[in-house]
Amino acid sequence: MSGQGRFLSFEGVDGSGKSTQARLLAERLKDDGHDVVFTREPGGSPGAEEIRKLVLEGDADRWSPETELLLFTAARRDHLERVILPALAEGKVVISDRYVDSTRIYQGVSRGDLRTQVDQLHTLMIGRETDMTLLIDMDPEIGLSRAFARGGTEERFEAMGQSMQQKMRQGFLELAAADPGRIKVINGNQPIEAVADDVRAVVDNLLI
Ligand code: TYD
Repeated sequence: MSGQGRFLSFEGVDGSGKSTQARLLAERLKDDGHDVVFTREPGGSPGAEEIRKLVLEGDADRWSPETELLLFTAARRDHLERVILPALAEGKVVISDRYVDSTRIYQGVSRGDLRTQVDQLHTLMIGRETDMTLLIDMDPEIGLSRAFARGGTEERFEAMGQSMQQKMRQGFLELAAADPGRIKVINGNQPIEAVADDVRAVVDNLLI
């Protein structure tokens, strides 16, 4: 199985249910005998988890958009080197709760227009796309109320508000339309089990 690993990510606006879906998929694939590594961004390796605290906590203007982009990219590089690539080389299925499409949308759309720099940095320092990305699409109004209900200290992005979340939903849908082979749109406005079944159906096509 060496070199046969598969790299999947989940994306969506805050509170879309993508983390729940990522976890459910990991459990289902494990039950079916796959060797699964479940991880997340920002974070996923000890160094990247340190960077996660720097970018997600504190005031919204703590970092300039450019500095923030560099921090997310540094975190991703560490995660890629130490967790993702070694697991893929061992033939494992890697499932990441968020990856570079989050940077394309959050830093590329919501924090100044950095889309070109996001893509350039990705090419220069990361260079690995997912094999498949599941976009859990849902109305940000519902997503945001869920995210706030969860509380916690990682509120910098969730505090951005409604119209920005709408913009990001559109951004994600446009990314998917531009790369339909890789990014699969899943209707998140359904009961959890129904969403999970839709995810599973799409992923099964990749894993056979
Ligand atoms: P996450 O922990 O997945 O939060 P949630 O469960 O609410 O989706 O992600 C934390 C925040 O980090 C989220 O608001 C999106 C943001 N983010 C970026 O801005 N750029 C990135 O590259 C990544 C990976 C996340």
